[in-house]
Amino acid sequence: MSAYLADWLSLLVRWFHFVAGISWIGASFYFIWLDDSLQAPQDEEARRRGVFGDLWSVHGGGFYHSQKYLTGPKDKPLTQNLHWFKWEAYSTWLSGMAMLAIVYYANAGTFLIDTRVLSLTPALAIGISLGTIAAGWLIYDTLCRLLFSRPLLLGILVYALSVFAAWGLQHVFSGRAAYIQVGSILGTIMVANVFFVIIPGQRKMLAQIRAGQKPDTLPGRLGKIRSVHNTYLTLPVLFTMISNHYPMTYANGYGWLILALLGAAGVVVRYFFILSHRRRIVVALPMTAGILVAAAAFIAAPHLQPDSAAPTPSTPFARIAPVVRERCAVCHSIAPTRPGFASAPAGVLLDTPQEIQSNAQRIYAQAVATQAMPLGNVTGMTAKERAALGAWITQGAKI
Ligand code: HEC
Repeated sequence: MSAYLADWLSLLVRWFHFVAGISWIGASFYFIWLDDSLQAPQDEEARRRGVFGDLWSVHGGGFYHSQKYLTGPKDKPLTQNLHWFKWEAYSTWLSGMAMLAIVYYANAGTFLIDTRVLSLTPALAIGISLGTIAAGWLIYDTLCRLLFSRPLLLGILVYALSVFAAWGLQHVFSGRAAYIQVGSILGTIMVANVFFVIIPGQRKMLAQIRAGQKPDTLPGRLGKIRSVHNTYLTLPVLFTMISNHYPMTYANGYGWLILALLGAAGVVVRYFFILSHRRRIVVALPMTAGILVAAAAFIAAPHLQPDSAAPTPSTPFARIAPVVRERCAVCHSIAPTRPGFASAPAGVLLDTPQEIQSNAQRIYAQAVATQAMPLGNVTGMTAKERAALGAWITQGAKI
């Protein structure tokens, strides 16, 4: 019963997290596009009022006229009730941390820890996860403060450190958890940028404008660097969030390298869109992203191809049936016996010979080619058993 309720909790928090994330990234992409699309005002009167740029648009049956004032209108005080875009970011982070706790911390032994990588106790694994999230922000924030006048060097360092984190975490957690952990570190950096730098900077500027002082531009410039980082981190972070469905990316010895390549592809694609807002179409960018993805696909290609030169002994169903029952069906059953599982994960049932047969290709992908299943190898599947399963499937999966 508690596993069943936990599934509902997980569903609701995930749904919320997804909607919050869309609202946040949607608003952030919109404002970046708006900023890049503004045109200098044509009429003298608007310029006198301090309009820096404006844009006419049409959406949902009405016409909109957006105007940007760098330091507020010149002809009247900035006393309006301003809408602050911040809860989209905060609620994404809060629900994301809740997801991390519900999926990875509550079942740390299954999802976070992989004893083939490192034998950790759940408490230690959770401590490392929370510790690296906090450390990630502190290191990043310090680098930004030290190097804010050298944005390119800063960007390269942030990328290099993220790759280093991916490499390190791959030697601590299960491949799948290492990816989510990198995503959590980077996502936390994005939200902390909003919470600790961008919003306080805007508050300070607003207070100075309202007090009739000339606003200090430094907080604005510091906030801008963080905004630029956030926009480039978006696509890589979103990849980590969906990566758990694609074990071919994380469940191999080069998971960190594949993440580095796909992350770079995400940055390059975002750059392409930013330039395109300014009417610059640089075809080399999507081509570069394509090459990076192709390189990742090449590195991730299954190494465990059945060796056609050496014929494998004929493997009957009777050899693999007990393997699937012991190693997989504790979770993948109509009535799972593994604690924490109320129903068959991903809807994959492996109770009957017919179910095993009809899932043969998926079993191959998960348990032979990538070894992503059993999760964290919690049921202790041996290499011999994987080879037998692979042989049975390549020989036609007959029952
Ligand atoms: C500890 C429980 C557990 C064990 C044991 C386990 N799995 Fe899974 N399996 C899961 C979970 C959880 C998911 C869902 C993963 C997700 O949502 O990304 C899953 C997903 C799958 C999927 C669907 C993946 C997809 O997205 O298409 C397949 C296929 C699969 N497992 C096969 C196996 C095989 C084969 C074994 C035995 C060698 C096995 N599993 C052992 C928990 C388990």
